[in-house]
Amino acid sequence: MALTFYRKYRPKSLADLVGQKEIVEVIKNAAKTDRLAHAYLFYGPRGTGKTTTARIMAKIANCETRAEDKKFHDTGEPCNHCRPCLEIDSGHALDVIEIDAASNRGIDEMRNLKEGIKLSPTSYKYKVYIIDEAHQLTKEAANALLKTLEEPPEHAIFILATTEYDKLPATIVSRTQRFNFHKVPLKLLIEQLERIIKVEKIKSEKSALELIASSAEGSFRDAESLLEQVASFEKEVTLSGVESVLGKVGLSKTGSLSRSLLEGNLEEALRFIEETDESGSNMVQLTKDLIQYLRRVLSLSFDPNIISIFERELTEDELKEMKEQAKLIKLDKHIPLIKSLIKAYSEMRYSPFPIVPVEVAIIENLGEKVSK
Ligand SMILES: Nc1ncnc2c1ncn2[C@@H]1O[C@H](COP(=O)(O)OP(=O)(O)O)[C@@H](O)[C@H]1O
Ligand SMILES: [Mg+2]
Ligand SMILES: [Zn+2]
Repeated sequence: MALTFYRKYRPKSLADLVGQKEIVEVIKNAAKTDRLAHAYLFYGPRGTGKTTTARIMAKIANCETRAEDKKFHDTGEPCNHCRPCLEIDSGHALDVIEIDAASNRGIDEMRNLKEGIKLSPTSYKYKVYIIDEAHQLTKEAANALLKTLEEPPEHAIFILATTEYDKLPATIVSRTQRFNFHKVPLKLLIEQLERIIKVEKIKSEKSALELIASSAEGSFRDAESLLEQVASFEKEVTLSGVESVLGKVGLSKTGSLSRSLLEGNLEEALRFIEETDESGSNMVQLTKDLIQYLRRVLSLSFDPNIISIFERELTEDELKEMKEQAKLIKLDKHIPLIKSLIKAYSEMRYSPFPIVPVEVAIIENLGEKVSK
C-alpha cells in the first residue's frame, strides 16, 4: 500500500523540520557537542513535529556514521543511511521503544520499562524510550517513570511528548529538558502542501490549498491528511472540492459575505446565504466563520497593529481585504449585528432550520422595513 502523505513526508532530518527553528537550533548544538540529555519533554499542539523530532533524536543518538565520521558529526544531523538510521525510520529498531500512553495508559509498558531499562541496548548505543501522550499515564505508571527518571542509566534517553503540558505531574516535568512546539503559521503550511503536490504531481488551485491549510489550524498532519483525502477522489484539488469535504466555505467567501453586510447590501447577503445553504454547506459553520471574521475586522478598526497577530493565520490577500473592511465599520450598526449573529449561532445549533436564525439576524439589522 502507498504510504499516507503524513508518513511519506515525515521529516528525516532536523533541517527538514518546518517552523520549529529554536528547537532545531538547540538540538543541533547538543548533537554537535554530544551533550544529549537523558530526558526530554516535547509539548505543544498536535501535528507540529513532536514524534518526528523524537525519532530524529533517536537517530542522532545512535547513528553510526556520526560516531565514525568527524566531519559528518559536525553537521549535528543523523546520516539516514546507516543501519540504525534506517531501522529507526522504518520503525523496526529494537532499542527505540515507542509507548502510547493513551491506548492502555501504559501500565504494562511501564512495568516492562522498569525491567527492561536495566538491560543494555541490544545493538545500539542508546535505548530510546518515546512516550507519547505522556499526560495520560496512570498514577502508577507515572510513579514508575519518575523513579526511572530520577536515576536514568547511562544508556537510556527518554522523550516524553504531550499535547497537554499542564496535566503532567510537576515532579516529572522538572526532570526533563523542555521544548515547546508551536502551531505553524499558515504560510508555512501552505508552502509544505505546495511541495507535496509538486512531488505527487497533483494539480491544485491555490485557494484550495489555502483552505486546507487554514482548516488544519497549525497542524501539518491534519493539512496533509486532508490534502490526501481530497486528492484521492478528484483529479484536481479545487476549492469547491475542499469546501464540500469540509462542509465549509473558503475565507474569501466568508469575506465577501462580511463585506456585503458591512456595506449594508441586504439582498446580496441573503442571496449568498441561500446559495451556500443550497450547496450543502454547514450553516452553523458559516455563521461561526462569519462571526470570527467580523470580530477580526472590528479589532482591526481599532488597532491596525493587531494585524501582526492575524498574520500567522491568514494569507496576505485576506489580510488586505480585512484592512479594507475595517474602514467600513460603524460601531452603532455593526456591534448589534455581531451580537445578533452570536445569538443566532447559539439558536441555530439546535434548530431544524439552521438557516432561519442567521437570516433573521441579518434582516433584523439591515432591513429597512424594520421599524425600530
Ligand atoms: N515541523 C514539521 N515540519 C514538517 N512536517 C511536519 C512537521 N510537524 C509535523 N509534520 C508532518 O506531520 C506528521 C505528523 O507529525 P508528528 O511529528 O507525528 O506530530 P505530533 O506533534 O502530533 O507528534 C509528520 O509525519 C509530518 O508529515
Ligand atoms: Mg505524536
Ligand atoms: Zn546514521
